[in-house]
Amino acid sequence: MNNRFSNKVVVVTGGSSGIGLAAAKAFSAEGASVFITGRRQETLDAAGKQIGGRVTAVRGDMSKLADIDRLYDTIQQKHAQIDVLFANAGGGEMVPLGAISEEHYQSTFDTNVKGVLFTVQKALPPLKDGASIILTSSTTSISGTPGFSVYSATKAAVRNFARNWMLDLKDRHIRVNAVSPGVTDTAGLDELFGGGAQAQGTRDYLAGLIPAGRVGQPDEIAKAVLFLASDDPGLINGVELFVDGGQAQI
Ligand SMILES: NC(=O)c1ccc[n+]([C@@H]2O[C@H](COP(=O)([O-])OP(=O)(O)OC[C@H]3O[C@@H](n4cnc5c(N)ncnc54)[C@H](OP(=O)(O)O)[C@@H]3O)[C@@H](O)[C@H]2O)c1
Repeated sequence: MNNRFSNKVVVVTGGSSGIGLAAAKAFSAEGASVFITGRRQETLDAAGKQIGGRVTAVRGDMSKLADIDRLYDTIQQKHAQIDVLFANAGGGEMVPLGAISEEHYQSTFDTNVKGVLFTVQKALPPLKDGASIILTSSTTSISGTPGFSVYSATKAAVRNFARNWMLDLKDRHIRVNAVSPGVTDTAGLDELFGGGAQAQGTRDYLAGLIPAGRVGQPDEIAKAVLFLASDDPGLINGVELFVDGGQAQI
C-alpha cells in the first residue's frame, strides 16, 4: 500500500457517490485527511462510514457560494492548509436541443461550471503553494452525444478552466489538470440511463463501442486522480487526462 498522502489535507466535492467516493476512499487509504461534500445527508453519512480513516462530511450544494464558504470554514477550523482539491461534483440530464429549458441550462451550468469555478476560487487562500487541483471534465468535452449538448458544453468549459487556471496559479506552483472519464459505472450514470434493465442495456451497448470493450469503474478513475494529485506527475500541468478505455481517441 502506498502512503503518498499521509498528513495531507484533501477536499473531494461530490465525494459521497461514484467517482468522488472512490477517490475519497483511495485518498483516505493512503493516509489523507479527507473532506467530502454532497447535498444529501443520508448519502454523505453512508459514504463517511465506507471511507473510514480521517473523513469529514460537509453537506452543501456547490452551486451555492454560501455553502462553499461553509466548507472551507469547516476545513480551516481543523487545518491551516489544503494540499489537494478534487473539484468533482457535477452531473447532467439528457435533453435534446428543442426541449432545453432555461431551468435545465441554469441548473447544469450552475453545478458544473459556476460550482467548479467558485469551489476553486474560494480554496485559493487555504491552498498550499505547490498544491494540486484536479477538475472532473468528461469525454463529452471533445465529442458529441445526442441530447447532451448542455452537459457537454459545461465539461468543455471545465476542461478550459484547467488550461487557464494553470497560468493564473503558476507563481504559486499549483498544478491544475482535468480528468475526463468515459462511461463509468456510477449511480449518476444509472440515473442518466433510466435505471434497471434499460440502463444495463445502454451500458452494454456503449461498452461495445469502447476500444477496451467495457465501461470504466469508479476506482479506475480514482487511480488517475491520485496520480495527478501526487508528486509523481512533475511537469504534467493543464492536461486533460482521458480515462475512458480509448473512446475519445477514435
Ligand atoms: N459516470 C460517468 O460516466 C461520468 C463520465 C464523465 C464525467 N463524469 C463526471 O464525474 C463526476 C462524478 O459523477 P458520478 O458519475 O460519480 O455521479 P454520482 O454517482 O451521481 O456522484 C455525483 C456526486 O456529486 C454530488 N453532487 C452533485 N451535484 C452536486 C452539487 N450541486 N453540490 C454538491 N454535490 C453535488 C452528488 O451528491 P448529491 O447528489 O447528494 O449532491 C454525488 O456525491 C461528475 O462531474 C460527472 O459529470 C461522470
